[in-house]
Amino acid sequence: MALSFSFFLPFFSAIVPLLLGLVSSSSVAETKTFIVQVQNEAKPSIFPTHRHWYESSLASISAKSSSSEDPSRIIHTYDTVFQGFSAKLSPLEVRKLQSLSHVVSVIPEQVRYVQTTRSPEFLGLKTPDSAGLLKETDFGSDLVIGVIDTGIWPERQSFNDRDLGPVPPKWKGQCVAGEDFPASSCNRKLIGARYFSKGYEATNGKMNDSTEYRSPRDSDGHGTHTASIAAGRYVFPASLLGYAKGMAAGMAPKARLAIYKVCWAGGCFDSDILAAFDAAVADGVDVASLSVGSVVVPYFLDVIAIGAFGASTAGVFVSASAGNGGPGGLTVTNVAPWLTTVGAGTIDRSFPADVKLGNGKIIAGTSIYGGPGITPGQMYPIVYAGSESGSDGYSSSLCLEGSLDPNFVKNKIVVCDRGINARAAKGEVVKKAGGIGMIIANGVFDGEGLVADCHVLPATAVGATGGDVIRKYISESSKSHSIPTATIIFKGTKLGIRAPMVASFSARGPNPESPEILKPDVIAPGLNILAAWPDKVGPSGVASDTRTTEFNILSGTSMACPHVSGLAALLKAAHPDWSPAAIRSALMTTAYTVDNRGNTMLDESTGNVSSVFDYGSGHVHPEKAMDPGLIYDINTYDYVDFLCNSNYTTQNIKVITRKGADCSGAKRAGHAGNLNYPSFSAVFQQYGKQKMSTHFIRTVTNVGDANSVYKATLKPPKGMAVTVKPDTLYFRRVGQKLNFLLRVQARAVKLSPGSSSVKSGHLVWSDGKHTVTSPLVVTMQQPL
Ligand SMILES: *[C@@H]1O[C@H](CO)[C@@H](O)[C@H](O)[C@H]1NC(C)=O
Ligand SMILES: *[C@@H]1O[C@H](CO)[C@@H](O)[C@H](O)[C@H]1NC(C)=O
Ligand SMILES: *[C@@H]1O[C@H](CO)[C@@H](O)[C@H](O)[C@H]1NC(C)=O
Repeated sequence: MALSFSFFLPFFSAIVPLLLGLVSSSSVAETKTFIVQVQNEAKPSIFPTHRHWYESSLASISAKSSSSEDPSRIIHTYDTVFQGFSAKLSPLEVRKLQSLSHVVSVIPEQVRYVQTTRSPEFLGLKTPDSAGLLKETDFGSDLVIGVIDTGIWPERQSFNDRDLGPVPPKWKGQCVAGEDFPASSCNRKLIGARYFSKGYEATNGKMNDSTEYRSPRDSDGHGTHTASIAAGRYVFPASLLGYAKGMAAGMAPKARLAIYKVCWAGGCFDSDILAAFDAAVADGVDVASLSVGSVVVPYFLDVIAIGAFGASTAGVFVSASAGNGGPGGLTVTNVAPWLTTVGAGTIDRSFPADVKLGNGKIIAGTSIYGGPGITPGQMYPIVYAGSESGSDGYSSSLCLEGSLDPNFVKNKIVVCDRGINARAAKGEVVKKAGGIGMIIANGVFDGEGLVADCHVLPATAVGATGGDVIRKYISESSKSHSIPTATIIFKGTKLGIRAPMVASFSARGPNPESPEILKPDVIAPGLNILAAWPDKVGPSGVASDTRTTEFNILSGTSMACPHVSGLAALLKAAHPDWSPAAIRSALMTTAYTVDNRGNTMLDESTGNVSSVFDYGSGHVHPEKAMDPGLIYDINTYDYVDFLCNSNYTTQNIKVITRKGADCSGAKRAGHAGNLNYPSFSAVFQQYGKQKMSTHFIRTVTNVGDANSVYKATLKPPKGMAVTVKPDTLYFRRVGQKLNFLLRVQARAVKLSPGSSSVKSGHLVWSDGKHTVTSPLVVTMQQPL
């Protein structure tokens, strides 16, 4: 035994508490939350409900004799997208549960975090009176978007129910009352609201009721913001402290909202997220919007993937944020092929706030500071917080709490490095220390990407190149014993700038779990987005900020995701029979990759051309997605085949699909890349081979016109041979499905061991009226 322990070093830490549990009399050592999947059909009839049965199973494996006075250990039970329950369990209890024949799996809980108006116009969705998608009266008003997030501030104008018809009869949800949230908080716009905190409190202890609302009310702001992006009503005039003035509206202004609050001060806990999915699907949402994420794990351990699978089987479209881990590669999260994974793009609006240095140089910056402080035309002394005269090097360069010497920064403009601490919080530190203004300067890892923040003092943000110019100017001035000076010139809101670009922070491919599926799927607006904001949280988000604003400007893939959720609702309103995969296909095959200057979209972090791993199929185009011509549809069986071909065991597949899988047929049929996805990704391992080839079989469904003829156009990745057979598809009727085969042949390229080369191209089907575009990406890997 001892020998085998030393062999399995990684498990050692898991085994220690288990042993302790055996030798000590107390068995409640080190409990953690687990989500337990149960074969519900196996319930013996003596138990009146599944919950009784779960309680009994728990009691039977628990060393502590349970008496009837013991409060239930069950956190949540699940029965819609998942069957089973969650509970805090010791390692020994986990082992015992796993040995029960009716227990399918025991999944450890993860903690997730939120991934923090002109955007409808930029997307081609016009104002209510003009033509376009929104023209139809009540368009989309039967659709319900479920937002799984930090809750809602229901009094915002964006959630008023003026001119909306009665709640759709299919709706089965509730408006759950709670702290500062009477059931009358809901209306014909906000038709449902629930909150799930038991999983959070099981791990973090009781929530602090003086800082958090034990109700669907939002004490953070993120959920109010994302909900209004998806489905906010038209509000005019809207702005934040005078910035971004104009009409604010969500993507689907008439769609209904149902709020599922799962994120609290300590994060968003899996057991609560799964309960939200379960409720949302049972309530009857059409779309679920999820702007939270974490690290990528296999799908059978990923509660978001499992919940989303159940939802998509029930016909619910699930969009999820790709994450903010960019600009590095392999950073994309929420990558399951039944999710629509949304990265962030920039929009054609900026908030320029330039730095003018004493030597006359102008550095471009961005900010949404609105308040007093800097006298136009006056120059102020400027210091770099991280220079030697500052107090303690690294922490002062980042302007961390308590790191700035007031004697050093008083009445000066302070330059702080961007780092990873909260940007607006630096402003508070500088302000407290007596600084008069602040410049946040990117480092080389941050590149040129800038986010406009609502600061508590006059402040702006500059890119890595500009930051170096400023830091150099300061150090050279001090060498020559002159006083460096600067000022910040706030220029308000500028429209019509080059866009979209892939936002710096937007997480990038390749897909770490399934390289054969290109992720993200699409990008949507996610930089400097104006949307609704709660009271009691200042727009900068820092504790001392007591300003109250109806709107706030935030950035993140969190903001991109609800754009797609709202669009999905509009697409479903126009095409009630479309599956979640069909809706995603329409969004992907009509997405574009050129910007408003007619050139390939740039990557904001470098200013260089972006690639398929950055934007997937491209930027969503709502009007075109309404009429895509062809769709690549996917059903539940296709996903099971995909999981088989991804070499998941039948037991692991069952965790996701709740059904046993027979993989023998799927394995014969092909590889994971054969899922009927609207993009193509081939991965070749060069094991001394000279030539490599693979093929993709796809089925397209005609949703355009009867009697249409689609011809294929190929742009092969550089140096590769790609063919499509047949290259013409003759459709006689709407709804007809036709197959084609895409073959990719590549020659080995010179690569050092462990490195890879990525080339991309595309396939376009066109009938002269519709263009159905799919990216094709080929990765050649040289094994180590
Ligand atoms: C709850 O939050 C308030 C306000 O931040 C704080 O003063 C108080 O100490 C907190 N209570 C607990 C129990 O943490
Ligand atoms: C951007 O493109 C230039 C020119 O091709 C290249 O030299 C540079 O390395 C690129 N920058 C990055 C960060 O990829
Ligand atoms: C699954 O296993 C087969 C056989 O070992 C292998 O050829 C294939 O590449 C694997 N597929 C994936 C997606 O790992």
